[in-house]
Amino acid sequence: MGKIGIIGTQWGDEGKGKIVDILSEKADAVIRFQGGNNAGHTLVINEKKTILHLIPSGIFNENAVCIIGNGVVIDPKVLINELDSLNKAGVKVTREKLKISSNAHIIMPYHISIDLLREKKKIGTTGRGIGPAYEDKISRKGIRFCDLTDKNSLEEKVSEIIEEKNLIMEFYGGKKLDARKISEEYFEYGKILKEFIADTHYLLHQLVSEDKNLLFEGAQGVLLDIDHGTYPYVTSSNTTSGNIFSGSGVGYNNLDKLIGIVKAYTTRVGEGPFPTELNDSAGDMLRENGGEFGSTTGRPRRCGWLDMVALKYAINLTGTDCLALTKLDVLDGFEEIKICTSYKIDGKEVSYFTNDIKKLKNAVPVYRTFGGWKNVNYRNITALSQLPDNAKKFISAIEDYAGIPVSIISVGPERNAVLFNEKPW
Ligand code: GDP
Ligand code: IMO
Ligand code: MG
Repeated sequence: MGKIGIIGTQWGDEGKGKIVDILSEKADAVIRFQGGNNAGHTLVINEKKTILHLIPSGIFNENAVCIIGNGVVIDPKVLINELDSLNKAGVKVTREKLKISSNAHIIMPYHISIDLLREKKKIGTTGRGIGPAYEDKISRKGIRFCDLTDKNSLEEKVSEIIEEKNLIMEFYGGKKLDARKISEEYFEYGKILKEFIADTHYLLHQLVSEDKNLLFEGAQGVLLDIDHGTYPYVTSSNTTSGNIFSGSGVGYNNLDKLIGIVKAYTTRVGEGPFPTELNDSAGDMLRENGGEFGSTTGRPRRCGWLDMVALKYAINLTGTDCLALTKLDVLDGFEEIKICTSYKIDGKEVSYFTNDIKKLKNAVPVYRTFGGWKNVNYRNITALSQLPDNAKKFISAIEDYAGIPVSIISVGPERNAVLFNEKPW
Protein backbone atom coordinates (compact mmCIF):
# COMPACT_ATOMS: atom_id res chain seq x y z
CA MET A 1 0.00 0.00 0.00
CA GLY A 2 2.83 2.42 0.76
CA LYS A 3 2.11 5.79 2.31
CA ILE A 4 -1.28 7.29 1.57
CA GLY A 5 -2.79 10.62 2.60
CA ILE A 6 -6.53 11.20 2.86
CA ILE A 7 -7.90 14.74 2.78
CA GLY A 8 -11.32 16.30 2.42
CA THR A 9 -11.59 18.42 -0.74
CA GLN A 10 -14.72 20.39 0.18
CA TRP A 11 -16.01 21.89 3.46
CA GLY A 12 -15.61 18.70 5.51
CA ASP A 13 -17.85 15.67 6.08
CA GLU A 14 -16.97 14.16 2.71
CA GLY A 15 -16.82 10.67 4.20
CA LYS A 16 -13.12 10.62 5.15
CA GLY A 17 -13.72 8.33 8.15
CA LYS A 18 -15.35 5.63 6.06
CA ILE A 19 -12.58 5.60 3.44
CA VAL A 20 -9.83 5.62 6.10
CA ASP A 21 -11.52 2.68 7.84
CA ILE A 22 -11.53 0.70 4.58
CA LEU A 23 -7.94 1.50 3.62
CA SER A 24 -6.67 0.94 7.17
CA GLU A 25 -7.02 -2.80 6.60
CA LYS A 26 -3.64 -2.65 4.89
CA ALA A 27 -2.07 0.03 7.11
CA ASP A 28 0.53 -0.40 9.85
CA ALA A 29 -0.27 3.03 11.27
CA VAL A 30 -3.09 5.55 10.88
CA ILE A 31 -2.18 9.11 11.78
CA ARG A 32 -4.34 12.18 12.51
CA PHE A 33 -2.24 15.29 11.83
CA GLN A 34 -4.48 18.36 12.34
CA GLY A 35 -7.78 19.59 13.72
CA GLY A 36 -9.32 18.36 16.92
CA ASN A 37 -12.72 17.23 18.09
CA ASN A 38 -14.36 19.65 15.68
CA ALA A 39 -14.04 16.58 13.45
CA GLY A 40 -16.70 13.89 13.42
CA HIS A 41 -15.74 10.84 11.36
CA THR A 42 -18.43 8.21 10.96
CA LEU A 43 -17.82 4.50 10.46
CA VAL A 44 -20.59 1.98 9.89
CA ILE A 45 -19.44 -1.59 10.41
CA ASN A 46 -22.02 -4.41 10.40
CA GLU A 47 -24.80 -1.84 10.81
CA LYS A 48 -23.15 -0.42 13.93
CA LYS A 49 -22.36 3.27 13.73
CA THR A 50 -19.36 4.84 15.50
CA ILE A 51 -18.48 8.52 15.35
CA LEU A 52 -14.85 9.30 16.09
CA HIS A 53 -13.72 12.82 16.96
CA LEU A 54 -10.06 12.35 17.92
CA ILE A 55 -9.06 8.71 17.64
CA PRO A 56 -7.96 7.82 14.09
CA SER A 57 -10.46 5.86 12.00
CA GLY A 58 -8.09 2.88 11.87
CA ILE A 59 -9.04 1.88 15.40
CA PHE A 60 -11.18 -1.04 14.19
CA ASN A 61 -8.24 -2.55 12.37
CA GLU A 62 -6.42 -4.75 14.85
CA ASN A 63 -3.04 -4.37 13.21
CA ALA A 64 -2.67 -0.63 12.79
CA VAL A 65 -1.19 1.65 15.45
CA CYS A 66 -3.31 4.78 15.80
CA ILE A 67 -1.31 7.96 16.21
CA ILE A 68 -2.60 11.39 17.21
CA GLY A 69 0.12 13.67 15.87
CA ASN A 70 1.57 16.91 17.13
CA GLY A 71 -0.60 19.00 14.80
CA VAL A 72 -3.82 17.94 16.51
CA VAL A 73 -5.34 19.96 19.37
CA ILE A 74 -6.74 17.58 21.97
CA ASP A 75 -9.49 17.98 24.53
CA PRO A 76 -8.44 15.30 27.05
CA LYS A 77 -11.98 14.99 28.44
CA VAL A 78 -13.35 14.19 25.00
CA LEU A 79 -10.54 11.74 24.34
CA ILE A 80 -11.20 9.90 27.63
CA ASN A 81 -14.92 9.69 26.80
CA GLU A 82 -14.10 8.36 23.35
CA LEU A 83 -11.83 5.70 24.86
CA ASP A 84 -14.59 4.75 27.32
CA SER A 85 -17.20 4.37 24.58
CA LEU A 86 -14.83 2.24 22.50
CA ASN A 87 -14.07 0.05 25.51
CA LYS A 88 -17.79 -0.36 26.18
CA ALA A 89 -18.26 -1.36 22.55
CA GLY A 90 -15.63 -4.06 23.04
CA VAL A 91 -12.73 -2.30 21.32
CA LYS A 92 -9.83 -2.52 23.73
CA VAL A 93 -7.56 0.47 23.19
CA THR A 94 -4.20 -0.51 24.65
CA ARG A 95 -1.04 1.57 24.99
CA GLU A 96 0.38 -0.39 22.05
CA LYS A 97 -2.63 0.55 19.93
CA LEU A 98 -2.87 4.30 20.59
CA LYS A 99 -0.07 6.85 20.72
CA ILE A 100 -0.50 10.54 21.45
CA SER A 101 2.23 13.03 20.58
CA SER A 102 3.76 14.62 23.68
CA ASN A 103 3.94 17.76 21.53
CA ALA A 104 0.21 17.97 20.83
CA HIS A 105 -1.52 20.99 22.35
CA ILE A 106 -4.31 20.70 24.89
CA ILE A 107 -7.70 22.34 24.53
CA MET A 108 -8.20 23.95 27.93
CA PRO A 109 -11.58 24.93 29.41
CA TYR A 110 -10.90 28.63 28.74
CA HIS A 111 -10.46 27.85 25.05
CA ILE A 112 -13.95 26.36 24.93
CA SER A 113 -15.45 29.26 26.93
CA ILE A 114 -13.80 31.86 24.71
CA ASP A 115 -14.87 30.02 21.54
CA LEU A 116 -18.48 29.93 22.74
CA LEU A 117 -18.50 33.54 23.96
CA ARG A 118 -17.07 34.77 20.65
CA GLU A 119 -19.68 32.88 18.74
CA LYS A 120 -21.98 35.83 19.33
CA LYS A 121 -20.03 37.21 16.35
CA LYS A 122 -20.90 34.34 14.13
CA ILE A 123 -18.50 32.10 12.26
CA GLY A 124 -20.56 29.09 13.18
CA THR A 125 -17.70 27.18 14.85
CA THR A 126 -18.27 23.84 16.51
CA GLY A 127 -17.71 25.55 19.87
CA ARG A 128 -15.05 23.03 20.83
CA GLY A 129 -12.29 25.57 21.58
CA ILE A 130 -10.32 24.81 18.40
CA GLY A 131 -9.50 28.40 17.32
CA PRO A 132 -8.46 29.64 20.80
CA ALA A 133 -6.28 26.53 21.35
CA TYR A 134 -4.42 27.06 18.06
CA GLU A 135 -4.08 30.78 18.93
CA ASP A 136 -2.23 29.86 22.12
CA LYS A 137 -0.05 27.39 20.25
CA ILE A 138 1.00 30.05 17.73
CA SER A 139 1.53 32.71 20.39
CA ARG A 140 3.63 30.24 22.43
CA LYS A 141 1.27 30.13 25.39
CA GLY A 142 -0.06 26.65 24.84
CA ILE A 143 -0.13 23.70 27.22
CA ARG A 144 1.06 20.48 25.63
CA PHE A 145 0.58 16.84 26.49
CA CYS A 146 4.07 16.69 28.00
CA ASP A 147 2.97 19.40 30.48
CA LEU A 148 -0.07 17.44 31.60
CA THR A 149 1.85 14.86 33.60
CA ASP A 150 3.92 17.26 35.76
CA LYS A 151 1.71 18.79 38.43
CA ASN A 152 3.93 21.74 39.36
CA SER A 153 4.82 22.71 35.84
CA LEU A 154 1.18 22.46 34.79
CA GLU A 155 0.01 24.74 37.59
CA GLU A 156 2.81 27.19 36.89
CA LYS A 157 1.94 27.36 33.19
CA VAL A 158 -1.80 27.74 33.76
CA SER A 159 -1.18 30.44 36.42
CA GLU A 160 1.03 32.36 33.97
CA ILE A 161 -1.72 32.72 31.42
CA ILE A 162 -4.86 32.78 33.53
CA GLU A 163 -4.74 36.53 34.17
CA GLU A 164 -4.79 37.26 30.47
CA LYS A 165 -7.56 34.69 29.93
CA ASN A 166 -9.62 36.28 32.68
CA LEU A 167 -9.32 39.65 30.95
CA ILE A 168 -10.64 38.07 27.76
CA MET A 169 -13.42 36.35 29.72
CA GLU A 170 -14.37 39.67 31.30
CA PHE A 171 -14.39 41.38 27.91
CA TYR A 172 -16.89 38.83 26.59
CA GLY A 173 -18.90 38.77 29.81
CA GLY A 174 -17.81 35.29 30.90
CA LYS A 175 -16.98 33.84 34.33
CA LYS A 176 -13.57 34.19 36.03
CA LEU A 177 -11.34 31.11 36.05
CA ASP A 178 -9.30 29.51 38.82
CA ALA A 179 -5.84 28.30 37.72
CA ARG A 180 -5.45 25.87 40.59
CA LYS A 181 -8.79 24.15 40.01
CA ILE A 182 -8.10 23.83 36.29
CA SER A 183 -4.61 22.42 36.75
CA GLU A 184 -5.81 19.90 39.35
CA GLU A 185 -8.55 18.68 37.02
CA TYR A 186 -6.25 18.47 33.99
CA PHE A 187 -3.50 16.73 35.95
CA GLU A 188 -6.04 13.98 36.67
CA TYR A 189 -6.71 13.64 32.92
CA GLY A 190 -2.94 13.44 32.42
CA LYS A 191 -2.80 10.51 34.83
CA ILE A 192 -5.39 8.61 32.80
CA LEU A 193 -3.80 9.36 29.44
CA LYS A 194 -0.14 9.10 30.46
CA GLU A 195 0.26 5.56 29.14
CA PHE A 196 -0.53 6.70 25.58
CA ILE A 197 1.85 9.68 25.45
CA ALA A 198 4.91 9.13 23.27
CA ASP A 199 7.50 10.73 21.02
CA THR A 200 5.34 9.87 18.06
CA HIS A 201 7.81 11.36 15.58
CA TYR A 202 10.33 8.72 16.70
CA LEU A 203 7.80 5.93 16.28
CA LEU A 204 6.96 7.24 12.82
CA HIS A 205 10.64 7.46 11.86
CA GLN A 206 11.05 3.82 12.88
CA LEU A 207 8.01 2.79 10.84
CA VAL A 208 9.40 4.74 7.88
CA SER A 209 12.78 3.02 8.17
CA GLU A 210 11.00 -0.35 8.13
CA ASP A 211 9.09 0.74 5.02
CA LYS A 212 5.73 0.25 6.74
CA ASN A 213 2.35 1.26 5.31
CA LEU A 214 1.18 4.60 6.64
CA LEU A 215 -2.23 6.19 6.29
CA PHE A 216 -2.59 9.89 7.13
CA GLU A 217 -6.14 10.93 8.04
CA GLY A 218 -7.08 14.54 7.41
CA ALA A 219 -9.89 16.34 9.18
CA GLN A 220 -12.19 19.08 7.81
CA GLY A 221 -11.67 19.97 4.15
CA VAL A 222 -9.54 22.16 1.90
CA LEU A 223 -12.10 24.98 1.76
CA LEU A 224 -11.87 25.26 5.56
CA ASP A 225 -8.06 25.69 5.44
CA ILE A 226 -6.83 28.66 7.49
CA ASP A 227 -4.74 29.98 4.57
CA HIS A 228 -6.60 28.82 1.48
CA GLY A 229 -10.19 28.45 2.62
CA THR A 230 -13.06 30.90 2.66
CA TYR A 231 -11.46 33.06 5.37
CA PRO A 232 -12.62 34.02 7.98
CA TYR A 233 -15.23 31.26 7.67
CA VAL A 234 -12.64 28.53 8.11
CA THR A 235 -11.16 26.36 10.81
CA SER A 236 -7.88 27.27 12.52
CA SER A 237 -5.52 24.70 11.01
CA ASN A 238 -4.10 23.91 7.60
CA THR A 239 -6.26 21.18 6.16
CA THR A 240 -4.15 21.00 2.99
CA SER A 241 -1.57 18.28 2.37
CA GLY A 242 1.46 20.22 3.65
CA ASN A 243 0.23 19.69 7.19
CA ILE A 244 0.58 15.91 6.79
CA PHE A 245 4.31 16.46 7.27
CA SER A 246 4.41 19.25 9.86
CA GLY A 247 1.46 17.84 11.78
CA SER A 248 3.01 14.40 12.19
CA GLY A 249 6.77 14.89 11.93
CA VAL A 250 7.81 13.10 8.74
CA GLY A 251 9.49 14.46 5.62
CA TYR A 252 7.77 15.37 2.37
CA ASN A 253 9.02 12.21 0.70
CA ASN A 254 6.79 10.06 2.89
CA LEU A 255 3.72 10.21 0.73
CA ASP A 256 3.18 7.93 -2.24
CA LYS A 257 -0.39 8.91 -3.00
CA LEU A 258 -2.83 11.59 -1.94
CA ILE A 259 -6.50 10.68 -2.15
CA GLY A 260 -9.00 13.51 -2.11
CA ILE A 261 -12.40 12.64 -0.74
CA VAL A 262 -15.27 14.33 -2.55
CA LYS A 263 -18.98 14.01 -1.99
CA ALA A 264 -21.11 13.64 -5.13
CA TYR A 265 -22.65 16.99 -4.09
CA THR A 266 -21.56 19.65 -1.59
CA THR A 267 -22.33 20.37 2.05
CA ARG A 268 -21.20 23.00 4.52
CA VAL A 269 -21.85 23.46 8.24
CA GLY A 270 -21.68 26.93 9.74
CA GLU A 271 -21.49 30.31 8.05
CA GLY A 272 -19.65 31.51 4.95
CA PRO A 273 -20.00 31.65 1.16
CA PHE A 274 -21.22 28.56 -0.71
CA PRO A 275 -21.81 29.31 -4.41
CA THR A 276 -23.75 26.15 -5.29
CA GLU A 277 -25.97 26.14 -2.17
CA LEU A 278 -29.56 25.10 -2.87
CA ASN A 279 -32.25 26.74 -0.78
CA ASP A 280 -35.02 24.77 -2.43
CA SER A 281 -36.60 21.33 -2.54
CA ALA A 282 -33.51 19.83 -4.24
CA GLY A 283 -31.38 21.03 -1.29
CA ASP A 284 -33.89 19.56 1.15
CA MET A 285 -33.86 16.26 -0.74
CA LEU A 286 -30.04 16.09 -0.58
CA ARG A 287 -30.16 16.78 3.18
CA GLU A 288 -32.85 14.20 3.78
CA ASN A 289 -31.50 11.42 1.53
CA GLY A 290 -27.93 12.04 2.63
CA GLY A 291 -28.72 12.33 6.35
CA GLU A 292 -26.89 15.64 6.27
CA PHE A 293 -26.84 16.59 9.92
CA GLY A 294 -23.51 17.31 11.63
CA SER A 295 -21.68 14.36 13.21
CA THR A 296 -20.28 16.67 15.90
CA THR A 297 -22.95 19.28 16.58
CA GLY A 298 -26.06 17.77 14.96
CA ARG A 299 -26.65 20.98 12.98
CA PRO A 300 -28.41 20.58 9.61
CA ARG A 301 -25.79 20.81 6.88
CA ARG A 302 -26.29 23.31 4.07
CA CYS A 303 -26.52 21.37 0.79
CA GLY A 304 -25.84 22.11 -2.88
CA TRP A 305 -24.55 20.68 -6.16
CA LEU A 306 -21.00 19.54 -6.77
CA ASP A 307 -18.70 22.47 -7.50
CA MET A 308 -15.89 21.60 -9.93
CA VAL A 309 -14.37 25.10 -9.72
CA ALA A 310 -13.82 24.58 -5.99
CA LEU A 311 -12.74 20.96 -6.47
CA LYS A 312 -10.16 21.87 -9.11
CA TYR A 313 -8.80 24.50 -6.70
CA ALA A 314 -8.56 21.89 -3.91
CA ILE A 315 -6.75 19.45 -6.23
CA ASN A 316 -4.23 22.05 -7.35
CA LEU A 317 -3.59 23.28 -3.80
CA THR A 318 -2.85 19.84 -2.46
CA GLY A 319 -1.46 17.71 -5.27
CA THR A 320 -4.35 15.27 -5.00
CA ASP A 321 -3.57 12.22 -7.18
CA CYS A 322 -6.98 10.62 -7.33
CA LEU A 323 -10.47 10.99 -5.93
CA ALA A 324 -12.75 8.90 -3.75
CA LEU A 325 -16.28 9.88 -4.74
CA THR A 326 -18.70 9.32 -1.86
CA LYS A 327 -22.46 9.31 -1.40
CA LEU A 328 -23.22 8.63 -5.06
CA ASP A 329 -26.29 6.69 -3.84
CA VAL A 330 -27.75 9.89 -2.37
CA LEU A 331 -28.32 11.23 -5.91
CA ASP A 332 -30.69 8.34 -6.63
CA GLY A 333 -34.16 9.68 -7.45
CA PHE A 334 -33.18 13.09 -8.85
CA GLU A 335 -34.66 13.85 -12.28
CA GLU A 336 -31.57 15.83 -13.13
CA ILE A 337 -28.21 16.33 -11.47
CA LYS A 338 -25.98 19.37 -11.84
CA ILE A 339 -22.27 20.10 -11.70
CA CYS A 340 -20.98 23.66 -11.46
CA THR A 341 -18.29 24.18 -14.10
CA SER A 342 -17.65 27.94 -13.76
CA TYR A 343 -18.96 31.03 -11.96
CA LYS A 344 -20.41 34.29 -13.25
CA ILE A 345 -18.95 37.05 -11.08
CA ASP A 346 -20.02 40.63 -11.87
CA GLY A 347 -21.22 39.46 -15.26
CA LYS A 348 -17.90 37.80 -16.17
CA GLU A 349 -17.49 34.05 -16.47
CA VAL A 350 -14.59 32.74 -14.39
CA SER A 351 -13.40 29.18 -14.13
CA TYR A 352 -11.08 29.52 -11.14
CA PHE A 353 -11.78 29.83 -7.42
CA THR A 354 -11.26 33.10 -5.61
CA ASN A 355 -10.27 33.76 -2.01
CA ASP A 356 -12.12 37.06 -2.06
CA ILE A 357 -15.27 36.12 -0.21
CA LYS A 358 -17.09 39.26 -1.32
CA LYS A 359 -16.74 38.01 -4.91
CA LEU A 360 -17.52 34.45 -3.92
CA LYS A 361 -20.74 35.53 -2.24
CA ASN A 362 -21.85 37.05 -5.54
CA ALA A 363 -20.71 34.14 -7.67
CA VAL A 364 -23.54 32.68 -9.74
CA PRO A 365 -22.81 29.07 -10.65
CA VAL A 366 -22.86 28.00 -14.29
CA TYR A 367 -24.11 24.41 -14.43
CA ARG A 368 -23.84 21.42 -16.68
CA THR A 369 -26.91 19.21 -16.29
CA PHE A 370 -26.96 15.41 -16.31
CA GLY A 371 -29.81 12.95 -16.48
CA GLY A 372 -30.64 11.24 -13.20
CA TRP A 373 -31.20 7.61 -12.21
CA LYS A 374 -33.44 5.90 -9.74
CA ASN A 375 -34.36 2.76 -7.81
CA VAL A 376 -30.87 1.33 -7.88
CA ASN A 377 -30.27 -1.45 -5.39
CA TYR A 378 -26.71 -0.62 -4.43
CA ARG A 379 -26.42 -3.81 -2.37
CA ASN A 380 -26.46 -5.77 -5.62
CA ILE A 381 -23.83 -3.66 -7.30
CA THR A 382 -20.35 -5.08 -7.04
CA ALA A 383 -18.62 -3.42 -9.99
CA LEU A 384 -18.58 0.00 -11.53
CA SER A 385 -19.85 -1.42 -14.81
CA GLN A 386 -23.17 -2.28 -13.11
CA LEU A 387 -23.93 1.37 -12.28
CA PRO A 388 -26.63 3.10 -14.38
CA ASP A 389 -25.29 4.72 -17.56
CA ASN A 390 -26.15 8.21 -16.32
CA ALA A 391 -24.15 7.61 -13.14
CA LYS A 392 -21.19 6.47 -15.25
CA LYS A 393 -21.49 9.63 -17.39
CA PHE A 394 -21.56 11.73 -14.23
CA ILE A 395 -18.39 10.08 -12.86
CA SER A 396 -16.59 10.35 -16.15
CA ALA A 397 -17.43 14.09 -16.38
CA ILE A 398 -15.99 14.58 -12.89
CA GLU A 399 -12.77 12.90 -14.03
CA ASP A 400 -12.63 15.12 -17.12
CA TYR A 401 -13.06 18.36 -15.18
CA ALA A 402 -10.80 17.26 -12.33
CA GLY A 403 -8.08 15.92 -14.60
CA ILE A 404 -7.47 13.00 -12.21
CA PRO A 405 -9.16 9.61 -11.86
CA VAL A 406 -12.02 8.68 -9.55
CA SER A 407 -10.47 5.57 -8.00
CA ILE A 408 -12.99 4.77 -5.28
CA ILE A 409 -16.77 5.12 -5.37
CA SER A 410 -18.77 4.89 -2.18
CA VAL A 411 -22.44 3.95 -2.48
CA GLY A 412 -23.63 3.70 1.11
CA PRO A 413 -22.50 4.32 4.68
CA GLU A 414 -21.53 0.67 5.32
CA ARG A 415 -17.89 -0.35 5.16
CA ASN A 416 -18.54 -2.74 2.26
CA ALA A 417 -20.62 -0.31 0.17
CA VAL A 418 -17.66 0.59 -1.99
CA LEU A 419 -16.52 0.06 -5.57
CA PHE A 420 -12.97 0.34 -6.80
CA ASN A 421 -12.45 1.82 -10.24
CA GLU A 422 -8.75 1.37 -9.84
CA LYS A 423 -7.10 0.37 -6.54
CA PRO A 424 -5.22 3.43 -5.31
CA TRP A 425 -2.15 1.42 -4.22
P1 GDP B 1 -16.12 12.79 7.56
O1 GDP B 1 -16.12 13.86 8.59
O2 GDP B 1 -15.48 13.22 6.27
O3 GDP B 1 -15.53 11.48 8.04
O4 GDP B 1 -17.66 12.50 7.21
P2 GDP B 1 -18.87 12.39 8.27
O5 GDP B 1 -18.77 11.08 8.95
O6 GDP B 1 -18.98 13.59 9.10
O7 GDP B 1 -20.10 12.45 7.28
C1 GDP B 1 -20.30 11.51 6.27
C2 GDP B 1 -21.66 10.83 6.50
O8 GDP B 1 -22.03 10.14 5.35
C3 GDP B 1 -21.63 9.79 7.61
O9 GDP B 1 -22.89 9.73 8.19
C4 GDP B 1 -21.32 8.50 6.86
O10 GDP B 1 -21.81 7.34 7.53
C5 GDP B 1 -22.09 8.73 5.59
N1 GDP B 1 -21.52 8.12 4.38
C6 GDP B 1 -20.22 7.95 4.03
N2 GDP B 1 -20.13 7.46 2.77
C7 GDP B 1 -21.41 7.31 2.33
C8 GDP B 1 -21.98 6.89 1.09
O11 GDP B 1 -21.30 6.54 0.13
N3 GDP B 1 -23.34 6.90 1.02
C9 GDP B 1 -24.14 7.30 2.05
N4 GDP B 1 -25.44 7.29 1.88
N5 GDP B 1 -23.63 7.72 3.21
C10 GDP B 1 -22.28 7.74 3.34
P1 IMO C 1 -14.79 16.78 9.66
O1 IMO C 1 -13.39 16.31 9.98
C1 IMO C 1 -17.47 20.08 8.73
C2 IMO C 1 -16.49 23.99 10.44
C3 IMO C 1 -17.43 24.55 11.48
C4 IMO C 1 -17.28 26.04 11.24
C5 IMO C 1 -15.80 26.16 10.91
C6 IMO C 1 -14.94 26.60 12.11
O2 IMO C 1 -15.85 15.99 10.34
O3 IMO C 1 -14.98 16.93 8.20
P2 IMO C 1 -14.09 25.29 14.27
O4 IMO C 1 -14.86 24.66 15.38
O5 IMO C 1 -13.21 24.36 13.54
O6 IMO C 1 -13.37 26.53 14.70
O7 IMO C 1 -15.23 25.78 13.23
O8 IMO C 1 -15.38 24.90 10.47
N1 IMO C 1 -15.96 22.64 10.74
C7 IMO C 1 -16.36 21.53 10.10
N2 IMO C 1 -17.34 21.34 9.18
N3 IMO C 1 -16.73 19.04 9.12
C8 IMO C 1 -15.73 19.21 10.03
O9 IMO C 1 -14.87 18.23 10.36
C9 IMO C 1 -15.55 20.49 10.60
N4 IMO C 1 -14.70 21.00 11.52
C10 IMO C 1 -14.95 22.31 11.58
O10 IMO C 1 -18.75 24.09 11.26
O11 IMO C 1 -18.00 26.41 10.09
MG1 MG D 1 -17.48 14.92 9.79
